[in-house]
Amino acid sequence: MAKSNLEQDILKVLVTEEEVAKRVNELGEELFDKFADKNPMFVGVLKGCFIFMADLVRATQIQSELEFIGLSSYQSGTASSGVVEITRDLQKDITGRHIIVVEDILDSGNTLSFLKKLLEAKGAASVTIVTLLDKPSRREKAITADYVGFVVPDEFVVGYGLDYDQKYRNMPYIGVLKPEVYSK
Ligand code: XMP
Ligand code: MG
Repeated sequence: MAKSNLEQDILKVLVTEEEVAKRVNELGEELFDKFADKNPMFVGVLKGCFIFMADLVRATQIQSELEFIGLSSYQSGTASSGVVEITRDLQKDITGRHIIVVEDILDSGNTLSFLKKLLEAKGAASVTIVTLLDKPSRREKAITADYVGFVVPDEFVVGYGLDYDQKYRNMPYIGVLKPEVYSK
């Protein structure tokens, strides 16, 4: 295990590194079965997706392409503003393509309901949503993911790509921060 000065801020571990790896491999197999003959395009939602995306595409050994989109619904802190902005648009035409959206967490649903409509408006043949984490208790929009890694309780989570104030993305597992970290 790598030396860490992040761990001291973690109250509890929700999903271990081993559990993440096992689940990502299962998701890769399911995506293989559905998309092997479809040449899909993975669209990762920056920045939270970056570690999950890297592991998921390597667990899904099919002909495919990848793209990233930058979206932001958070002004700061831990609550959704409800307004979604495109901070970096797709660089490729997606007309007629089968899109696999890769997201870190489905929370209020504002981000993914905006993105799904956007991709459909851009002419996608299909939009499939894969989210590492699902926090159904906080949903504001009627949206469900097609593939979910783990359902998590209503707590702010960090690690494996997910941040608090841009930090903790590089932790290899998913955890909850100590309350005092927020009041620093
Ligand atoms: P919505 O509310 O639009 O949220 O479904 C999606 C985006 O909000 C961020 N988010 C979180 N980030 N821990 C995080 O580090 C969380 O518990 C959390 N909840 C929401 C995340 O960027 C996601 O893409
Ligand atoms: Mg995000």
